[in-house]
Amino acid sequence: MTEGSTTGMDEINKTRDILRDKFEKLEDKKQILKAVELRKLYDGIRNAPPEDRAAYGQAVNSLKLDVQTWVEQSQEADEEISPIDITAPWGVNSAADRRPQFLPAEQGSQHPLTTEINYICDIFQRMGFVVEESREIDDDFHMFESLNFPEDHPARDDYDTFMTDEGLIAPAHTSTMQNRVMQKYKANLDKGEPIAAVVPDRVFRNEDLDATHEHTFYQIEGVYVSKNVNVGNLIATLSTYMSEYYGQQLKTKLQPFYFPFTEPSFEFAIERPDVLRKDNSEEQKWLELGGCGMIHPNVMRSAGLDPEVYTGFAFGFGVERMVMMKHGIEDVRHFESANLKFLRQFS
Ligand code: PHE
Repeated sequence: MTEGSTTGMDEINKTRDILRDKFEKLEDKKQILKAVELRKLYDGIRNAPPEDRAAYGQAVNSLKLDVQTWVEQSQEADEEISPIDITAPWGVNSAADRRPQFLPAEQGSQHPLTTEINYICDIFQRMGFVVEESREIDDDFHMFESLNFPEDHPARDDYDTFMTDEGLIAPAHTSTMQNRVMQKYKANLDKGEPIAAVVPDRVFRNEDLDATHEHTFYQIEGVYVSKNVNVGNLIATLSTYMSEYYGQQLKTKLQPFYFPFTEPSFEFAIERPDVLRKDNSEEQKWLELGGCGMIHPNVMRSAGLDPEVYTGFAFGFGVERMVMMKHGIEDVRHFESANLKFLRQFS
């Protein structure tokens, strides 16, 4: 082939790229067959030196066949989509390149919080607790009344709840489940077995956000009732769980606190690893994980249990905070950020 024809081939290849580009952007794919670039190549056949004309013409023809195939394939792809799909968030007739690009399913993974919650529940199950599901909308009785917050009790204000116009409440803690769990497993006590349940779920608070506060987060509630249960059992249970979860004995701190539904009540904190400390202050030394205490007699009564016969403990811990301590995560907001770089570290 002569030098001229090589240039001709180059030109065809360049046109192929240009056409492909145009084709991708076209709404009506058939229009590509009328592209000026294609017509120019046809004119080129006539103007090509006679000895190259056949080869040149063949190359142009094969490009045209390719372009026709592109068009046919795009039409087939359109036909595969059912014409009525009211759930599709885009028009079914929009061009393939206008539709959203979904992440391939094989790149997905469980959210780290789900993995951790499953792991936490596993530990408690091995310790003899059943796992119950909470709910994400509840009523005044379960949020306050059954937990010994009488109406107008000032401690109600400690929980900045989100409320619907009908007076329903997005639970601000998983303690809303204490009453239900005690009622559900009451029969255990008659058989001489304890009530032992954990309840993980989301809770909602009208909070200002910062590195350790979110308005929506997970808690895990624990309820244990039997005869002769005391604070010693509470501490033993929590430290067994903590050493299992962290795979090491971390320093813990229990300090007196107030909750209407437990008496005595405590705040439970664990020592922060160095990576999660901003400075050496006493405040930075401890991370509060949640509250705990002995179940108040009024809470027992509201579930139909006799506090003269039975005693029990309860606890409620923030899941994100436990996970942050385990993996050295410095900001709770990462969990809900949908930041793939963060999430992929756990998959
Ligand atoms: N529900 C309390 C809170 O979220 C924590 C708690 C649970 C305290 C159980 C005592 C017993 O603040």
